[in-house]
Amino acid sequence: MNEMRAALYDRYGPPEVLYEGRVPVPDVNPGEVLVRVRAISVNGGELAGRAGKVRLVTGRRFPQRTGIDFVGEIAEVGASVTGVREGERVWGVLGRMTSGSAAEYVTVRPRQIAPAPGNLTPVEAISLPAGGTTSITALRDKARLRPGERLLVRGASGGVGSVAVQLGKAFGAHVTALAGPNNLDFVRGLGADEVFDHRTTGPSELGSFDVIMDTAGTEHPAFRRLLAPGGRMVAIAFDMANPLPSIAYLLASALHGSRRVRFFSGNPRHELFAELTRYAENGDVRPVVDTVHPLASIAAAHRALEAGGVRGKHIIEIA
Ligand SMILES: NC(=O)c1ccc[n+]([C@@H]2O[C@H](COP(=O)([O-])OP(=O)(O)OC[C@H]3O[C@@H](n4cnc5c(N)ncnc54)[C@H](OP(=O)(O)O)[C@@H]3O)[C@@H](O)[C@H]2O)c1
Repeated sequence: MNEMRAALYDRYGPPEVLYEGRVPVPDVNPGEVLVRVRAISVNGGELAGRAGKVRLVTGRRFPQRTGIDFVGEIAEVGASVTGVREGERVWGVLGRMTSGSAAEYVTVRPRQIAPAPGNLTPVEAISLPAGGTTSITALRDKARLRPGERLLVRGASGGVGSVAVQLGKAFGAHVTALAGPNNLDFVRGLGADEVFDHRTTGPSELGSFDVIMDTAGTEHPAFRRLLAPGGRMVAIAFDMANPLPSIAYLLASALHGSRRVRFFSGNPRHELFAELTRYAENGDVRPVVDTVHPLASIAAAHRALEAGGVRGKHIIEIA
């Protein structure tokens, strides 16, 4: 049986539960492609998964796998798949509720991939899909951000926020960003018009906004009060330390009609990746690579993201 290297863990716990092990190379079903993975990124949500904070969803079967996004080349095309060819460089995500891209190979349906940007290396490119597809959905589809509007991005130096700031500028908004104290210049460099330290600046000091994009998951009521008439707030996270009141607030906000907090869980498809490829190739969105780690050091990558202060993405390069 053909085997490959993959990141695994045998119990929930701190980053150190992660190790590089061996698993079978997946079989390719007729409607799928096999991708030789070159790079993946570590997403905020994967820390919670590994720590067992969402075990109601992730279950009790081990070993578990990690990683959802990938950049690589198509290594094999299933018998009923058309429109893609072996050797093509692609990016994408695994299907909903599926983890395991931190490995040498993955199988996916063609609707979950698109050609990767021709102007970026795999390591550069993989800094963008999670944040990019989430930010396009949030700003364009959910908030319908218009040129000249005032946008606030919370968590602006993180994997999602660092792309949201860039897209906000590309969509013609005036962007105000909240980030940690060591990342104010980094976020200004992404194009933000105004940047504030989230540790020392409260919501009441920020003014009002047409659109608020929240990636932090906390203080939703206080930030929602900053919406101007006709304003829209999009949240992609809830408070992991206090989940029930946070989820209840998001659900109850539906009663506010047009001023509800729009929450979504992304499941990006081909069209969204293809659009992100265009933004990357025309330079509207630039890569946001914090640190590149080898697969064997995936625990160090989780530890670094958990420590806070990230600038974009921690990347795992799969040699
Ligand atoms: N719903 C969806 O479809 C979807 C998609 C992608 C991600 N997510 C979720 O979105 C969240 C963010 O993901 P990510 O990958 O961007 O995580 P990340 O890379 O860890 O970034 C989180 C950012 O939030 C900042 N932050 C923390 N507390 C803050 C506060 N009180 N105010 C403002 N900023 C604050 C952090 O800055 P400092 O460390 O400097 O404090 C960090 O830059 C995660 O919970 C993830 O699960 C949801």
